[in-house]
Amino acid sequence: MNLEHIELVEELEEHLRRYASDFPTILKDIQDYCSYESIKLNFFIDRKIKLPKSEKKKIQNFLTSYLQGIPYEYITNHAEFYGHRFFVDPSVLVPRPETELIIDAIRDLSCPRLKAIADIGTGSGCIAISLAHIFQQTKIFAVDNSLQALSIAKINIDNHKAENVFPVQANFLECIQNESLDVIVSNPPYISKDDPHLERLTHEPISALVSDENGLAHIKAIFKNSFQVLKKDGFLVLEHGYNQANAVNKISDETGFKLIKNVKDYQDIDRIHICKK
Ligand SMILES: C[S@@+](CC[C@H](N)C(=O)[O-])C[C@H]1O[C@@H](n2cnc3c(N)ncnc32)[C@H](O)[C@@H]1O
Repeated sequence: MNLEHIELVEELEEHLRRYASDFPTILKDIQDYCSYESIKLNFFIDRKIKLPKSEKKKIQNFLTSYLQGIPYEYITNHAEFYGHRFFVDPSVLVPRPETELIIDAIRDLSCPRLKAIADIGTGSGCIAISLAHIFQQTKIFAVDNSLQALSIAKINIDNHKAENVFPVQANFLECIQNESLDVIVSNPPYISKDDPHLERLTHEPISALVSDENGLAHIKAIFKNSFQVLKKDGFLVLEHGYNQANAVNKISDETGFKLIKNVKDYQDIDRIHICKK
């Protein structure tokens, strides 16, 4: 059965006006969602188009989830990262634009023979798989301690036909041989338990976000483990919190690493630590 399109448009507009503080953004997201789902209607303009009942239901479900604050990427089950499309669901973090800087940083490393990389805390696999597109001859271990996260990474590995990426369930680097890696990369959980930003992140897995010791426990463990499993002159490339650069530089130095550089994010804040064994 077809329903009058105008009914739906009016209903949506009413919802949007009543609940959404950011009308243009939500409107654009709904339009993107509709074309992504091949409805292919510019339904906010052409009010004469009739929609099948199933499509109306889908748009209503979208709107309900959106207004509950569920990230757009979880509703549509996809996220963009470094120009690639990744499947995501609430068992993995939604990839962030600043994390793309990690890929550029590794691309720019002067490391002639890149045989093996490990991505610690791979989540959706976005870092490991983006690197696999660039370094096609390099073995890339996509490590996570969450089986649910790894099952999502596996979907993405298959979708991208990333045959040089190997999912590994492990706590940090515990299963990796000493002195075997050229590069270790990680975007670990680094938010402190009492950080007020957590209030806005309630739909993402807490195990991907929060770390003890003011957000530094995972970072400390990664530094400690990395020193053993990196080859001589191997690199560690790590994302950290907006206020953690000094603490991370100190941990790095105390572990015996040589600082290569701190990379700033789009807000001009130090975000990525690059060091060498
Ligand atoms: C901030 S998310 C990063 C996800 C993805 N790499 C990204 O950048 O979008 C951190 C990831 O670390 C994983 N993780 C947390 N503790 C871990 C541990 N002890 N060993 C391995 N992975 C861990 C979480 O399951 C989560 O997937």
